[in-house]
Amino acid sequence: MAEHAAVVGTQWGDEGKGKVVDFLTRKSQVVVRYQGGTNAGHTVVVGREKYALHLIPSGILHSDKTCLIGDGVIVHPETLVRELGDLRKRVSKTARLLLSTKVQLIMPWHIARDGIAGGLVGTTKRGIGPCYADATARRGIRVMELDSPKHFKGRVKYEANWNKRLIKAMADSFGLSSTDLKGLKLSSVLNHKKVAEDYLSQFRELKELGVEITDGSAFLWEQDRVGKKILFEGAQATLLDITHGDYPYVTSSHPTIGGLYIGAGFRPRKIGVTGVAKAYSTRVGNGPFPTEIDDSVAEGLRSRGNEYGTTTGRPRRCGWLDLVTLRYAARVNGLDGLAVTKLDILSGIKKLKVAVAYKLGKKRLVNYPADVKKLEKCQPIYKTLEGWDEDITGVRKLKDLPKAAQNYLKFVEKDTGVPVAFVGVGPGRQQMIKA
Ligand code: IMP
Repeated sequence: MAEHAAVVGTQWGDEGKGKVVDFLTRKSQVVVRYQGGTNAGHTVVVGREKYALHLIPSGILHSDKTCLIGDGVIVHPETLVRELGDLRKRVSKTARLLLSTKVQLIMPWHIARDGIAGGLVGTTKRGIGPCYADATARRGIRVMELDSPKHFKGRVKYEANWNKRLIKAMADSFGLSSTDLKGLKLSSVLNHKKVAEDYLSQFRELKELGVEITDGSAFLWEQDRVGKKILFEGAQATLLDITHGDYPYVTSSHPTIGGLYIGAGFRPRKIGVTGVAKAYSTRVGNGPFPTEIDDSVAEGLRSRGNEYGTTTGRPRRCGWLDLVTLRYAARVNGLDGLAVTKLDILSGIKKLKVAVAYKLGKKRLVNYPADVKKLEKCQPIYKTLEGWDEDITGVRKLKDLPKAAQNYLKFVEKDTGVPVAFVGVGPGRQQMIKA
């Protein structure tokens, strides 16, 4: 039995997981995405080239690997065709790509419904919540259904009619104006004949692009049996988990480690779980963010760290590192190691604040509260650490980091009880320290 690896986000996403995955991919033969959909955005930088991936596992850039989009992922076929087509134009040889049969399809009405109702949470408007909701309500359409065009057309017709009534009711209840309705382009969203034809043709294109439709769970079982190493690439992050995140300000999948077992249909016996944490905190979308700051330090983090959403381009909210959330992520995911990314972005800040607990009224909380209402009232209790001025982007060994940077990492390790395994010091593939 091979020893496998998983990479999960510990904060609110955008921790730089793609880069850690890219690094760990070298030791694996198979790379798997197991949850989420087109809401994810992983940026991998190779040389001067930047690749923004939404659905395809980051391992796609390694031509000797196999990538699997597992059953827990939800797929928008048009986006997948575009993403893979673009990659093929830029990269001479990409990895083998498998798409699992039980994957649920993001349909145009999911995107329309997200457009109407996603405002409270500040979703990416990619149809994620409505697609998972339909899957749970047992009315979702799955990849395997594309294999029987007649059946698929019938399913699309039925769902389009249902969604026509649903969207009308939603539009009434949300008080949408005629201009809002126009923006939703409902006539094409609900045109079942066109939708079915488009999806069937995209399915053919995917096959022409070499995507293999398979039973992902059976594939992983066999790979494990013959000793291949598998890397599981999480999207989004712990605090966005539908169960363990800041509900309702969450995504609709399970980015925590439990999502791996369901989404891959496979339980690795031996697995090392690396939690990725940015050296500070960011969040896109609404919801509590105890260590959020809105001053020149935040501005500096945003501009130096290019903190704008890969998927939506929205400016990310920025703040200090929050160890209460990291300890929580360590517990929920059973982390074996931490990858601290973007440490270089902190260079030049004289004093670095790190939240070690929260104050709620007169109480000191050391555990992340489950109740968002309480969380919104929490004030961070900070420990202030010394900063450093040096440019660390060229450093490749821990001992060569400035003492203050080493102390920052040691503090994180001691507080979370999780060893730091990797440190990111720049966006490039090589700008990574292995501890
Ligand atoms: P949804 O996943 O589009 O439904 O959005 C739900 C929440 O998760 C929103 O706050 C989004 O901004 C956030 N979110 C979803 N995907 C990502 C991601 O990949 N990175 C960061 N935030 C995300």
